[in-house]
Amino acid sequence: MAEKITSTSKDGERIAPSSEFKKQATISSLAEYKRLYSESVNAPEKFWNTQAKELLKWRKPWRKTLEWKEPHAKWFVGGKLNVCENCVDRHLGTPRENKAALIFEGETGDQKTLTYKQLHVEVCKFANVLTGLGVKKGDRIAIYMPMNCEAVVAMLASARIGAVHTVIFGGFSSESIKDRVNDCQAKVIVTADGGWRRGSVVELKKNVDDAVKGCPSITNVVVVKHIGHRVSMKVGRDVWYHTLMNDASHKHAAKAFDSETPLFVLYTSGSTGKPKGVLHTSGGYLLGTTMTSKYVFDLKETDTYWCTADIGWITGHSYVTYGILSNGATNVIYEGAPNYPEVDRFWDIVERHRVTIFYTAPTAIRAFMKWGDEPIKKHDLSSLRLLGTVGEPINPEAWRWYYKTIGGERCPIVDTWWQTETGGIMITTLPGAAPSKPGSAGLPFFGVVPKVFDDAGNEVKKGENGKLVLTTPWPSMLRTLYGDNKRYKKVYWSEYKGVYFCGDGCKQDKDGYFWIIGRIDDVLNVSGHRIGTAEVESALVSHPSVAEAAVVGRPHDIKGNAIVCFVTLKQGLEGTDELRRELRDHVGHEIGAHSKPDEIRFAAALPKTRSGKIMRRLLKDIAVGKEIKQDTTTLEDLSVVKQLQAQD
Ligand code: WTA
Repeated sequence: MAEKITSTSKDGERIAPSSEFKKQATISSLAEYKRLYSESVNAPEKFWNTQAKELLKWRKPWRKTLEWKEPHAKWFVGGKLNVCENCVDRHLGTPRENKAALIFEGETGDQKTLTYKQLHVEVCKFANVLTGLGVKKGDRIAIYMPMNCEAVVAMLASARIGAVHTVIFGGFSSESIKDRVNDCQAKVIVTADGGWRRGSVVELKKNVDDAVKGCPSITNVVVVKHIGHRVSMKVGRDVWYHTLMNDASHKHAAKAFDSETPLFVLYTSGSTGKPKGVLHTSGGYLLGTTMTSKYVFDLKETDTYWCTADIGWITGHSYVTYGILSNGATNVIYEGAPNYPEVDRFWDIVERHRVTIFYTAPTAIRAFMKWGDEPIKKHDLSSLRLLGTVGEPINPEAWRWYYKTIGGERCPIVDTWWQTETGGIMITTLPGAAPSKPGSAGLPFFGVVPKVFDDAGNEVKKGENGKLVLTTPWPSMLRTLYGDNKRYKKVYWSEYKGVYFCGDGCKQDKDGYFWIIGRIDDVLNVSGHRIGTAEVESALVSHPSVAEAAVVGRPHDIKGNAIVCFVTLKQGLEGTDELRRELRDHVGHEIGAHSKPDEIRFAAALPKTRSGKIMRRLLKDIAVGKEIKQDTTTLEDLSVVKQLQAQD
């Protein structure tokens, strides 16, 4: 990297786990973490052999732990297992069999619990249903569902018969469904009559109907009656889930599949328009997610775990379905919005289900901050013992608030850095092992060797910013992009020779902690200085008036980039010119005068995808006053764009 990236991360602050937490933690000291970590990187094959034997049930042992022909990895070559059996069947005949596997709560308040035994019956039946519809090993099935038990059952049943699922987030439009289904040539699509979102019906079946008109590969649409909404059913193609399930046998012998059998394709956005179909396979993925679930969340038999992610995203795959159920934990799933019917809905759920581990995204945390502490104080959150965050860098301000207001200064926070492509958590501070530094994801997980490179591919010095790379293969890594191996090589393996490039800017401090700055494409060059947009955002959010901020660059004749900030204020505050000036000075004060924003626009909300990611490319277009031509189908609230444009 030619110029330096400016960073304001304050790495002096450390928050250590309490002695009470440490005492019961699976990994309870830095020395223990370091010993295991050095084993994992010095003799990786030996380490992964031991872990794979200990944590998973195999039907046939592997011949070779890793076959690495860059950039293609095969893990546990020759080994056979069934992923679904590992997540469900192996808990039967143990004291876990009547333990709650899934506790579902719908937005309207309906509840349903499936024990591991009941989950087994459902999964076996649906495996028979899929087979009856002609789905065979290697066939693709699409799942377009609300967050409910049937969605998880469909994923597991697909895995059970060796089929490949592609879960399409329920907020996607029919066009997006069509693109994904056609890309992977799915045979069957599993959907519902509808879902609930903030009191409104999401017309899932109708979207599928519109999509399937352009999807010749689809032979059947399976429809779950979820809300009791009238939908049209096309004779010969559409079938009710409950009818098929009624007729299906609950007996199903799970076959053993090769470790490298494809498990799922998950589409994710790249820097170009077309989504990338990230392909994950069986043995390595399950090992990575099982192991990280166990150590990062410090999962215990008595825990009630809740991850707020939707199964439409990788977090929902790895840390709602596979990693959590493989550990035999109790898993809360919630269908709806965090602010429905009131802004305390999450805390109400935590209190009623006595949730012990809570995993969410910084964007949600900042929304809660904005809604104030009152709705939280109404609830008893004393059951919580561990908190987690994922998805974007968390600004220290939000970290501290989360720690204090939600965790009662009692719960360690695991800030987990990873990606759809990595399959599982790669960088985090193990909660009982080391102190957290607010704003830093922390230390590498076992077997992970991250480095920070400059543009020429040299490692930068500690404390300097550069690009984050992963230098060794890991079991849960993506294997390729579905049907596009060329793009796989280009996107991830061509920036530098022999290492995986993840697209994030980063620095490592003197204690070895990694500080993620954000996507490289979100790093701006202003008057020769590189400035992480996430850092300007963090500075803005540390101002008492600001609830949330997004920062983008706008081409500038002299400076290269001008800094444009989109800011939402705390409830009841008004965006005035005086506040604009104050915020500019505040950023200047936090980072340096060169980082002072050129422009600040206020809005009631920021444009976000329904998964909560700020739509930066859209903001970039708004910043330069371009007409919005890009796809806004995943946008949560279109009126936000109009409001931001109105300030042009
Ligand atoms: C960002 C989500 C900072 C990062 C699991 C990454 C994070 C992208 C963190 C992947 C974190 C995720 N701190 N940044 N703890 N977690 N990211 O594929 O930019 O939806 O490259 O996977 O999110 O997003 P994805």
